[in-house]
Amino acid sequence: MLTVSELKKEYRNHVAVDGINFTIKEGEIFGLLGPNGAGKSTTISMLSSLLKPSSGTILFRNVPIGDKKGALHKELGYVPQDLALYPEFTAVENLMFFGKLYKIPKRQLATRVYEVLEIVGLTNKAKDKVSTFSGGMKRRLNIACGLIHKPSLLFMDEPTVGIDPQSRNYILQMIKQLNNKGLTILYTSHYMEEVDFLCDRIAILDKGRIIEDGTKDELMRVLQTEEVLVMTLAQIDEGYIEAISQLDSVQSVQVQGTQVFVTLMDKATALKELFHTAEQWNVEVKGIEVSKPTLEDVFLHLTGRTLRD
Ligand SMILES: Nc1ncnc2c1ncn2[C@@H]1O[C@H](COP(=O)(O)OP(=O)(O)O)[C@@H](O)[C@H]1O
Ligand SMILES: [Mg+2]
Repeated sequence: MLTVSELKKEYRNHVAVDGINFTIKEGEIFGLLGPNGAGKSTTISMLSSLLKPSSGTILFRNVPIGDKKGALHKELGYVPQDLALYPEFTAVENLMFFGKLYKIPKRQLATRVYEVLEIVGLTNKAKDKVSTFSGGMKRRLNIACGLIHKPSLLFMDEPTVGIDPQSRNYILQMIKQLNNKGLTILYTSHYMEEVDFLCDRIAILDKGRIIEDGTKDELMRVLQTEEVLVMTLAQIDEGYIEAISQLDSVQSVQVQGTQVFVTLMDKATALKELFHTAEQWNVEVKGIEVSKPTLEDVFLHLTGRTLRD
């Protein structure tokens, strides 16, 4: 449905997006996962024709986007990271405003406004000013604005930032439902859990580059392991870290503060050896936890950093 090739955005002396390639298939939720500053918003702005790429191509249904000069693409919707709402307008007035941008005929628009309010669960706030809304309600209205013209592909840029867990869950469920009804979605986030929950395929973006992509299962295979162990040490001893990195039962070791993330080849042996080595190095292990790896571990494995660094 959407094919992005060698897309690049260079600011004066800084490359924000550095030649990325990906495709979005009709019907899926495609996730762009990356830490702050990775280039997610820059990418989405280019896909939405708000920002001109330095180079590269974006094809939507095999046609370059932005071909029609200045015209809003009727099939594409955009939910910006920064709320694009008029606080002194009511919910309905905001939606009418965006509807007019897309030149939706008046009577059709009046009906559609209430449809999207229903979708985002704000029907009973229709006539209230946005300035009286909670953070979660503003986020939901922001999404409604992106849906007003019934797009077939929706770009969502971190639509849950800065809201309470309940609103977040509401929005995540809503996105699943929209997708179930046929909407194709590009979802960006730095929250691994959200991308994990929502997305069929995921591209991990870091410093303007896609460092890995695929289905969640494919990404997990990067780790070549089923289990991850997190050890909390009283303090980090470089000698100990070096020693456990050499163990055959251990695949990889990453240090974050006083926590040591270890991917295991053989859990039973590894646990024994990690403790034994700790004794040898006189290292105090304060806590230990075995867990299934997550996308966070994949990111850590690939970059040596966490998504929230
Ligand atoms: N208008 C701009 N001028 C210069 N640099 C920018 C501009 N917009 C974004 N950047 C830089 O580009 C990089 C990517 O930013 P952004 O796309 O906002 O990342 P993300 O959305 O993943 O947090 C960052 O290093 C950011 O500082
Ligand atoms: Mg951003």
